[in-house]
Amino acid sequence: MSTAAPLSVPERVDDDILRIDNLSVEFHTDHGWTRVVDEVSLRVPPGVTVGLVGESGSGKTVTSLAAMGLLPPRGSRVSGSIRIAGREIVGLPESQMSNIRGVDVSMVFQEPRRSLSPSFTVGDQIAEVVRRHQGSSKRESFARAIEMLDAVGIPDARNRAKAYPHEFSGGMCQRVMLAIAMVCRPKLLIADEPTTALDVTVQREMLRLMKDLQHEYDVSILFITHDLGVVAEMCDQVTVMYAGQVVESTLIDDLFEDPRHPYSEGLLAAIPDARTKGARLSSIPGAVPAPWDWPQTCRFQARCEHAKVGRCDVEPIVLGGVGGGRAVRCVRDGELSLKGLAG
Ligand SMILES: Nc1ncnc2c1ncn2[C@@H]1O[C@H](COP(=O)(O)OP(=O)(O)OP(=O)(O)O)[C@@H](O)[C@H]1O
Ligand SMILES: [Mg+2]
Repeated sequence: MSTAAPLSVPERVDDDILRIDNLSVEFHTDHGWTRVVDEVSLRVPPGVTVGLVGESGSGKTVTSLAAMGLLPPRGSRVSGSIRIAGREIVGLPESQMSNIRGVDVSMVFQEPRRSLSPSFTVGDQIAEVVRRHQGSSKRESFARAIEMLDAVGIPDARNRAKAYPHEFSGGMCQRVMLAIAMVCRPKLLIADEPTTALDVTVQREMLRLMKDLQHEYDVSILFITHDLGVVAEMCDQVTVMYAGQVVESTLIDDLFEDPRHPYSEGLLAAIPDARTKGARLSSIPGAVPAPWDWPQTCRFQARCEHAKVGRCDVEPIVLGGVGGGRAVRCVRDGELSLKGLAG
């Protein structure tokens, strides 16, 4: 679990680095305009790492692309508010968003190779970001690129800066992506499954590096993953998404010891653990429904072992504050005794 000092989740903080309020995103699909992110609210305070977790299709990437201003302008509709370091970005024209991206907020993706250009050296690709945002000379920017490659642990950075992405391993490419993301010292780093494609040892090194850079560069992190084990290692707070909605939002230790949403309980049960070594990993039966199949009532009920006819299938379930800054979207909250990792 995170070694950071214990934090309390503030009810209201105005200096949040990222503050998303009631964000909804719709895409134009064969089913008409379809909402895939539904009234999502989340905050990332200064210096804090917030995990955003949920199974495939829950809306994590779409939420983060909205925060980067990277959703396709045609074919998507965004409503609600996204503030980065206090500045509203919903509705901002691309000419202004491109000055915020890389400077205030950066993102690293699961597949670094797809984001790197095969035809430029890694040094040039980092230097280009510096030049664009800071107006530095070619020479200064390249020197900064070398420093940054060194900072992300690329050995022999001066020479490796002149190499092309295909000359790097997957793990090293991810370090290069991190160098590009961090070179202008953003206030917020969004990491979308940054280690999922890496093998376990490389994954651990990458997580360690991100923690070190976070302290050195004083950056807040929104860490997206479907792996609660990684969340335990990296995050101070966590927001759990299911079928486009936030279902639970809390401090990481509270989630692990005392989950309040049955979906969180299900995700915890699926964590590989020393105690269950050799035992079959449990996973939640069924799958996240497609956005056009979301019920008006509890979206998790079809997979929930605690679902009750007449309670969970009657009306939309709201995300309710439960004290201590926690929020839970379950009509049976308070009636259930859910199992955390200690249970
Ligand atoms: N451009 C798009 N057009 C239409 N639907 C989309 C588009 N992008 C994403 N979606 C849909 O939005 C929903 C949320 O997708 P998203 O990629 O945010 O999920 P995710 O939580 O990041 O999942 P994963 O863990 O697989 O990365 C999915 O149903 C997906 O099919
Ligand atoms: Mg995703």
